[in-house]
Amino acid sequence: MRKKVVSFLASGRGSNFQAVARKIQSGDISRACLGVLVSDVPDAKALEIARDFGMKAHFVDPRAFASRAAHEKAIVKLLKEANTDLIVAAGYMRILTPYFVREYKNRIINIHPALLPSFPGVHAQKQAFDYGVKITGCTTHFIDEGTDTGPIIMQRAVPVEPDDTAESLAERILKEEHVILPLSVDLFCRDKLEVKGRKVVIK
Ligand code: GRF
Repeated sequence: MRKKVVSFLASGRGSNFQAVARKIQSGDISRACLGVLVSDVPDAKALEIARDFGMKAHFVDPRAFASRAAHEKAIVKLLKEANTDLIVAAGYMRILTPYFVREYKNRIINIHPALLPSFPGVHAQKQAFDYGVKITGCTTHFIDEGTDTGPIIMQRAVPVEPDDTAESLAERILKEEHVILPLSVDLFCRDKLEVKGRKVVIK
């Protein structure tokens, strides 16, 4: 079976991207190879990390385009040129338009730092902390046309400790993100994920 090309979208420090890329480069995720990384932020640490992995890293400036769709078209062109099979949104802070989602239907995995459908959107760890939940966690899911609403692949629970701050909680959640994101990518690349309506069946 041909290896799948995995490309990345990232806006920030890129620790989730790094966790996946390491496992692809080491062969732990054996059915994948590294594609390109695209960022919408010029000084995103993720761009630097990608170059250290020997990947092509592109900053695509949203302000250089007249519309969101035009920005996304430029990104999709780069992803297609790299023959991308799977896209990992690893801390990509933009909502994808229906155009993008359709181009890569059930082939874009997102990592979210809460147990969806609770606390979608930004600052999910702080939302959960402020709400006072006793258990939160993280979720990987396919991106659909909503905000953090797509079919769920994996989740990990993280208990909230009495002396937690929003920051300490976010740190412990991040450790679990670095576990389930590579596992989800591995399952995808071994053709083990089947989307049936809202559900993802792990074969
Ligand atoms: C992570 O918490 C991820 O769940 C969220 O954005 C953050 C990105 O962190 N979507 P990093 O750039 O992967 O370090």
